[in-house]
Amino acid sequence: MPIADIGASRVHYQKSGNGKESVVLLHAFPLHAGMWSRQITALSRTHQVIAPDYRGLGKSPPGPAASTMELLATDVLSLLDHLSVRRAAFVGLSMGGYLAFEIYRRSPGVFRALALCDTRAGPDSPEGAANREKFAQTAIEKGLGWVADEMTPKLLRPQPDAAAVKEVRSLIGQGTPAGVAAAQRGMARRPDSTPTLAQIACPALVVVGAEDALIPPPEAEKLAAGIKGAKLATIPGAGHLPNIESPTAFDAALLGFLEALPG
Ligand code: MLT
Repeated sequence: MPIADIGASRVHYQKSGNGKESVVLLHAFPLHAGMWSRQITALSRTHQVIAPDYRGLGKSPPGPAASTMELLATDVLSLLDHLSVRRAAFVGLSMGGYLAFEIYRRSPGVFRALALCDTRAGPDSPEGAANREKFAQTAIEKGLGWVADEMTPKLLRPQPDAAAVKEVRSLIGQGTPAGVAAAQRGMARRPDSTPTLAQIACPALVVVGAEDALIPPPEAEKLAAGIKGAKLATIPGAGHLPNIESPTAFDAALLGFLEALPG
């Protein structure tokens, strides 16, 4: 899989399909682009699909101590520039949604459409930000096994399939403790994206797993209500990662949205 040397950073990404329209898949914390494997297969039949790993997660080398949304947005926009992609539909799940808001603020013209999955616009409370700092320090002390123990039950539905547990633990294990800590510190510093919602002028879809305990369905309803014309899809049988736990329903919602976009 390719690595792009863009300015001061190196970004590993997956790219497949050669459709006329592009889709950019922005992953959740503390996973990497591999969490989109099923969607990459489904979407690349009709689209060019690009899925980066954020710094220090998956195969992208770690960067500075905090992977702020500003820094990651620069990486993604530089990668798109490197690949000569001028316009794309963006799909951001959880942290990927936080990042999509930042990219939108920086470059609204690049958005053909936006799908926001299991994410929220609001910032962390001071207590939430302090917990992220504790998590970052413990991740560095105890390593990725501890990160997987902490995060996997939160990411999946209450009675998850053993295969989903195995897959998520493996995705987490392919990052680095420094990258996990930097992502937590970057998310803690993210701005409030609530004012951005009224600016979103492209077609938008909000997706949520019906059993998402981290960002539950009422939050998704609030998010959809804040974006003009946004549609909402609730995916049964899934927690925070509906693309992994209920991929058939997730892909149907996403493909239905993409296929209905104006050319
Ligand atoms: C994610 O899935 O990306 C995280 O749960 C986001 C967060 O920690 O706020």
